[in-house]
Amino acid sequence: MKESSPSLVRDITSNLDQTLRPQSWDEYVGQQKTKENLRILLTAAKERGHAAEHILLYGPPGLGKTTLAHLIAKTLNTNLRSTSGPAIERVGDLAAILTNLSPGDVLFIDEIHRLSKAIEEILYPAMESGVLDIIIGKGPSARTVQLDLPPFTLVAATTRISLISSPLRSRFSGGTFRLEFYAPEEITDILEHSVQVLNIKASRPLLTLLAGRSRATPRTANYLLKRCRDMAQLANTDITESVVNKTFSLLGIDSAGLTAQDRSVLEIIANKFNGGPVGLNTIAAATGEEQATIEDVIEPYLIRLGFLERTPRGRVISGDGVTHLNNL
Ligand SMILES: Nc1ncnc2c1ncn2[C@@H]1O[C@H](COP(=O)(O)OP(=O)(O)OP(=O)(O)O)[C@@H](O)[C@H]1O
Ligand SMILES: [Mg+2]
Repeated sequence: MKESSPSLVRDITSNLDQTLRPQSWDEYVGQQKTKENLRILLTAAKERGHAAEHILLYGPPGLGKTTLAHLIAKTLNTNLRSTSGPAIERVGDLAAILTNLSPGDVLFIDEIHRLSKAIEEILYPAMESGVLDIIIGKGPSARTVQLDLPPFTLVAATTRISLISSPLRSRFSGGTFRLEFYAPEEITDILEHSVQVLNIKASRPLLTLLAGRSRATPRTANYLLKRCRDMAQLANTDITESVVNKTFSLLGIDSAGLTAQDRSVLEIIANKFNGGPVGLNTIAAATGEEQATIEDVIEPYLIRLGFLERTPRGRVISGDGVTHLNNL
């Protein structure tokens, strides 16, 4: 057993979301370009007997970044050591994690945009040359000692690529991959699989209905499926169209899959600010949401639907966005 602080590094296999998380590349639907790139990168590294190069994954929440990290480790037949930006508070925390890795391990750092500058600086030489620079002593007598680290692959995930400094970004020599929203057909395929795992009865047309309101996001799709299952169970029926529609209305999910939170952003821009442009901080104050939530969670899908635009002067609601609100 290796020693490491349990609060910093979890052996992720133990608390894997066993139920719905894809366990193989075949079960991982969509993201073809990223999958193909990773397949080549990982297979080549494995053949050479080297640790794979570092990989950065980014995109809105729930699109499958953490799942990919699991699959990467599985493909490399190695351990996944998992931590996150906010959990690494001190330089010593990162040093402890790095020195406790076994050769070939995958280190997953979620929310890497939340690492402090000082910690990023430790990460650079570790990623680039596999060494840890430790400063011993203070003032003029301080000196740097270099420790060799075992070869490892850093897989990092973020919802905020814009907050990753360019020196850090450039060190992901294996590549930076953006996860895309899923096509309705892909979400339906994911739901077909979930239905089997959860042993639920629901027809393909019903799953298509669910997929249409899932914000093109697998996590949301699975969430809605589970809520429909609850509703059906209480009504003592299978999942029917009426169960699905009741679930949507109970959750306040409209025909475009938007929640009350999403709509309040659109409504504020439309009604209080005459359609915009409005600054993000003003929207945050008016809706009571955090800026980060608006930027990471709410806006990407509104932009994808074409309901909202980001302009240099602020956010603007589009004609389609106004039409959607008027048709509610
Ligand atoms: N490509 C996919 N195929 C099938 N299911 C998927 C896929 N991507 C994600 N899922 C499902 O969605 C859930 C959420 O995915 P995951 O936790 O990997 O998202 P994430 O991008 O890490 O989100 P966050 O940014 O919130 O950490 C998974 O547990 C899985 O059930
Ligand atoms: Mg994640």
